[in-house]
Amino acid sequence: MALEIPEQLLARDTTPRCPHFGDCGGCAMQDVPYEAQVRAKAETVSRMLGRDVEITPSPDPYGYRHRMDYVVAFGKLGLRMRGRGDQVVDLHECHLVRPRVSALLPMVHAWLDEFGIRGFNLVTKRGDLRYITFRHAFSSDQLMAILVTASRDTAVEPLAQRLADHVDSVVWSVQPRVGDDSHGDVQRIRGHATLEQRIGRSTFEISPDCFFQNNLLLVDELYAAAAGHIRGRTLDLFCGTGTIGIHAAERAQHVTGVDVSEANIELARRNAERNRAGNVEFVTDKVNHFLAFYDGPVPDTVVLDPPRSGLAPKLIRKLNRLAAPRIVYVSCNPNTFALDIDALERYELRELRGFDMFPQTPHVELVSLLTRD
Ligand SMILES: C[S@@+](CC[C@H](N)C(=O)[O-])C[C@H]1O[C@@H](n2cnc3c(N)ncnc32)[C@H](O)[C@@H]1O
Repeated sequence: MALEIPEQLLARDTTPRCPHFGDCGGCAMQDVPYEAQVRAKAETVSRMLGRDVEITPSPDPYGYRHRMDYVVAFGKLGLRMRGRGDQVVDLHECHLVRPRVSALLPMVHAWLDEFGIRGFNLVTKRGDLRYITFRHAFSSDQLMAILVTASRDTAVEPLAQRLADHVDSVVWSVQPRVGDDSHGDVQRIRGHATLEQRIGRSTFEISPDCFFQNNLLLVDELYAAAAGHIRGRTLDLFCGTGTIGIHAAERAQHVTGVDVSEANIELARRNAERNRAGNVEFVTDKVNHFLAFYDGPVPDTVVLDPPRSGLAPKLIRKLNRLAAPRIVYVSCNPNTFALDIDALERYELRELRGFDMFPQTPHVELVSLLTRD
């Protein structure tokens, strides 16, 4: 769920940059000046949490997204229509990605027509090409295009060949399940299998299916804030590709990162090795299952960075029993964050900062420190 920003906080008096604004579900606030967006988010989160929260703006409110999943359906290529999950807005430009990616959209439209590649029908759940996803590492300017088809029968080769002249790698991936998911089984990779992104003093690899924070312009500051709260023996729960733990490796005594995704953990191990973080280890597991069998010492710090749904009640009970003196909670959902910190017994919210990782949208990221009495 997005942040519910009261409409009266949003002065809608700026001309949107994008001609698709209004129809496209990708951006909801391009008509609000950027400083006013950040102010409105800060005010909404402050009211919600009953304390003043400062929000660090994105260095640029456009062109910040590392990953974008463009839907291919009903003869269109674009994003879902605002408020309509079953309709797609045909996009010929997009300002949330870098110009290099946006410039590819008209070309891809033309190639889809030329090769007669059919899109996926979001209503009947049948068809060929479901998504074209772009992942862009800004520091290396490496760009990956991922073609996600519903079956192995789709002839994506001509499209892959055309794309290969414009990007650093083209991945073909199959996702046959009915559910709406752009992560599939990788069939073929041309070019680099991973992209390289520098964050702070470390370099991270990004694979077709791994999790990676989307705003690459602000991620350094986000991780520096989270890592700054880490002390001693640390459990980095929901660790993704190990980015927070690796950032904190120098200040932590030891870090154990846990994530359910094998793809994330494989990269996390590689990332630790290439950044010479020798005191960091990673485990593939569900956090709840991992804690149920955890018999190590009580960690000095627990880092939590769950998906939007926040922490399950069972997990909160386990965290209460574990009773670590510090919790660093990184959240992309202030609604679940507010409920979760209330349920964490004997913890006090010591520090809280917001980061506008998602300009033009009603989302915000929080980094907090909770300590136990
Ligand atoms: C918001 S991401 C955070 C990743 C990482 N901290 C970062 O900044 O890149 C949430 C992560 O939780 C993982 N995840 C989701 N449910 C999980 C579960 N039940 N147990 C372990 N990991 C889970 C996902 O694979 C994803 O990598």
